[in-house]
Amino acid sequence: MLNVALPKGRLGEKVYAMFEAAGFECPSIKEQNRKLIFENSEVGVRYFWVKPSDIAIYVERGAADIGVAGKDILLEYNPDVYELLDLDIGKCRMAVAAKSDFRDDPRRTLRVATKFTNIAKNYYASLDRDIDIIHLNGSIEIAPILDLSDVIVDIVETGKTLKENDLEVFETIVPISARLISNKSSFKFKNEQIEKIVREVSAQLKASN
Ligand code: PRP
Repeated sequence: MLNVALPKGRLGEKVYAMFEAAGFECPSIKEQNRKLIFENSEVGVRYFWVKPSDIAIYVERGAADIGVAGKDILLEYNPDVYELLDLDIGKCRMAVAAKSDFRDDPRRTLRVATKFTNIAKNYYASLDRDIDIIHLNGSIEIAPILDLSDVIVDIVETGKTLKENDLEVFETIVPISARLISNKSSFKFKNEQIEKIVREVSAQLKASN
């Protein structure tokens, strides 16, 4: 049985459709209910819906053999997993944003509000810039408006959230997309099934490009 962790939500539904087309179908997953685990023993697959930011934990610890996680989560937590494929969906970017009148004064410590403290620390370390990290769990956009921070480091997809809160992107740190990841020992012991998914999904990606 191949255990697959899918990110709960719209992205996960797209990913399931890719796996279904790769021959790992599990029709019960489409039933409207609140179940979180679905299994098709005929093709040897078990799917479970997981909070997107938790996928890497399941895969790293082997509770899931494979899963789909955003590059943001992989960069932030650096889990000990294999990154097998860029799925080219869930695309967005990690960016520095601030109020439009913000001007950086390099003599002062920069106050940075973010959920992604490691990504922010690494980025500013690469610029040799002193920062004061303010870790928040959500609604990051409020921080510069209330002068809790000078800038934010956050995910920007359409840019709508920033625009509606009068903020602007100042720098793009890294582009983000969904990645297929594998537990390291599962990749060895369930290699045939995992390679089949990688092969079929890669073929789908090529065909759609
Ligand atoms: C992210 C991010 C922004 C928003 C950006 O939040 O933190 O708030 O999306 O998207 P946009 O550029 O299309 O407006 P998300 O919805 O992932 O949830 P969160 O509040 O848990 O961070």
